[in-house]
Amino acid sequence: MTKKKIIVFTGAGISAESGIKTFRDSGGLWEEYKVEDVATPEAWENDPAMVLSFYNKRRKQVMEAQPNTAHHALVELEKKFDVHIITQNIDDLHERAGSKKVMHLHGEIIKSRSSVDPDLTYMIKGWEINIGEKCVKGSQLRPHIVWFGESVPQMEDAGNLAAKADIFIIVGTSLNVYPAAGLVDFVPHNTPKYLIDPQAVSKDYISNITVKKEKAGIGVPELVKKLLI
Ligand code: APR
Repeated sequence: MTKKKIIVFTGAGISAESGIKTFRDSGGLWEEYKVEDVATPEAWENDPAMVLSFYNKRRKQVMEAQPNTAHHALVELEKKFDVHIITQNIDDLHERAGSKKVMHLHGEIIKSRSSVDPDLTYMIKGWEINIGEKCVKGSQLRPHIVWFGESVPQMEDAGNLAAKADIFIIVGTSLNVYPAAGLVDFVPHNTPKYLIDPQAVSKDYISNITVKKEKAGIGVPELVKKLLI
């Protein structure tokens, strides 16, 4: 029997209880930094050292963090379902918890990439990329991150997956950043959908949705338990 497909769409909120700051909550990263100073192609052009330093700090934090009960609970779902995680997060906490199929829409902090050839990526040794570190083609290495103003190369694959969802679960995202936030539009109308987020506001525009105003660490294990019965 083929397993039902569960697509889980995650944002910064799922890693909040691992100690990684979200972006738009009070005290979030975009209060401390200006997006245009650190997360755009223009920032990279103007001040690559500043951009590298911003992401080096993020990388160090991610390497020191551990997956939490929400990441672990999603792994349990694989016992009964074909689970695909589509994450906006650049951390590797889903993989370290043990999730097998993880797509990173906004890139991966643990990798660097050539600034002239987007297909040339490397695992970073340690926690830093420094000025002067180059790809085989001789260009400065940049973080393997999708910046504001850049396209999201995996969006089409993500949409195709979402269109096949038997169950669609959204965890810890403000659904503010497009095109990622539009993923839900690809999910069939009658597919049951769940949203777990303590700040969840009315999502009337999403059909067939159950909203759980809970932290991921509580809401995700509860939902997983229910789905595994
Ligand atoms: N459990 C679940 N959700 C939580 C928790 C928690 N413990 N703590 C906070 N949240 C929720 C907030 O209520 C909010 O809705 O997480 C969400 C975080 O929203 P954002 O900070 O906007 O993060 P996200 O939606 O992932 O941002 C999308 O924006 O800056 C870019 O590229 C970056 O991928 C990121 C994208």
